[in-house]
Amino acid sequence: MIQNHLHIGGIDAVDLINQYGTPLFVYDVEKIRENARLFTQTFEERNVKHQVAYASKAFSSIAILQVAKQEGLSLDVVSEGELYTAIQADFPVEKIHMHGNNKNRDELDMAIRHQIGCIVVDNFYEIDLLEELLEKHQRKMKVLLRVTPGIEAHTHDYILTGQEDSKFGFDLSSHQAGQALQRLLQNERIHVQGVHCHIGSQIFETQGFVMATKKVFSMLKDWHNQFGYQAEVVNLGGGFGIRYTNDDEPLPLNEYVVALVDAVTEQAKEYQLMMPEIWIEPGRSIVGEAGTTIYTVGSVKDIPDVRKYVSVDGGMTDNIRPALYQAKYEAVVANKINQPITETVSIAGKCCESGDMLIWDLEVPAIENGDLLAVQSTGAYGYSMSSHYNRFPNAAVVFVENGKSQLVVKRETYKDLVQNDLSYE
Ligand code: LLP
Repeated sequence: MIQNHLHIGGIDAVDLINQYGTPLFVYDVEKIRENARLFTQTFEERNVKHQVAYASKAFSSIAILQVAKQEGLSLDVVSEGELYTAIQADFPVEKIHMHGNNKNRDELDMAIRHQIGCIVVDNFYEIDLLEELLEKHQRKMKVLLRVTPGIEAHTHDYILTGQEDSKFGFDLSSHQAGQALQRLLQNERIHVQGVHCHIGSQIFETQGFVMATKKVFSMLKDWHNQFGYQAEVVNLGGGFGIRYTNDDEPLPLNEYVVALVDAVTEQAKEYQLMMPEIWIEPGRSIVGEAGTTIYTVGSVKDIPDVRKYVSVDGGMTDNIRPALYQAKYEAVVANKINQPITETVSIAGKCCESGDMLIWDLEVPAIENGDLLAVQSTGAYGYSMSSHYNRFPNAAVVFVENGKSQLVVKRETYKDLVQNDLSYE
């Protein structure tokens, strides 16, 4: 083991790069499994019926869905493409849930043909389409009704919004959710399993989830009184925060589950409603910290007394988050792990765009062309939000586990990039 090299899942990162090249996404599969198990085991310890659906928008590929399947997770898909990937991964269809604020006929048709576990119904247009397609296929479908509970979660806190203002789900304050329920209950092809809400992403406290649970239960109480309806399932979404930098202080994942179980149990008791199954949809918290992106350093531009720009062979095409959300990351020089920190540099991507900066003011050992830079916690919304800007091919993805590495997504080639281009005669 070379001491001054970064090791991921017991493997020398420099060896990985010699084998697979850069930029490279490396996932420590053991970490993914640990996260998944922390969620499921906490529910099991509390003896609560549950589903933990991996939100595949965070990172979808056949291999990650195979791991999710092995860990007994359910799956949240939001498009035909994500559903297609799940089917290719042989994911159990009855454990797939479909989301989306604008599901089209083809997506709903595919979900119905494959008899997926449930569709999270989002709007009235979707109800029209669903009813039409269920009739056409002579099939039944389980649904959850997505509501916006009027809680807007921010990174470190939350606020209660008086007015609903979201493109997702049915508005609670205007009674649209109740109207949607009434319509769904009238259709014998539709079974309304329960309700869904999602308050946001990268949330570091449990209070927002508790408040959302209270709002949902107050609505369920009304629905019980008005329509005699009882939910078998309450899905409280995802959004559990992770550590990107040392400034982030995420809660252990089991604490979110404990808070949700306590809140649902208490609310069900208070309103004398039956205890529903609790479903959650974590994406980032399952794969985020398990992923690292490794780049090769190219040009180093030193502007005396101003800044040192260190450019790497990827950037906003494999990680749009710094440019899009001003997201912060930390990184290490993978081939100089134990060397003393001597300088502060800023890490630039390769795109023709001044905004393509991955990290500002990173402290590193003396860094030079040919070094390997490993950016940490890139496992969620990195590869999945990749683009081909400047016609950069998508990076490769490697899984490491038990001291072995395996390529799970091939690096795109230039030929891949032009495969759909047609010449103009
Ligand atoms: N469920 C629903 C309905 C969602 O909308 C989302 C995320 C999740 C679950 C999973 O949330 P997670 O546990 O991963 O936070 N691209 C952004 C994040 C967008 C999240 C969209 N919805 C980012 O890179 O931060």
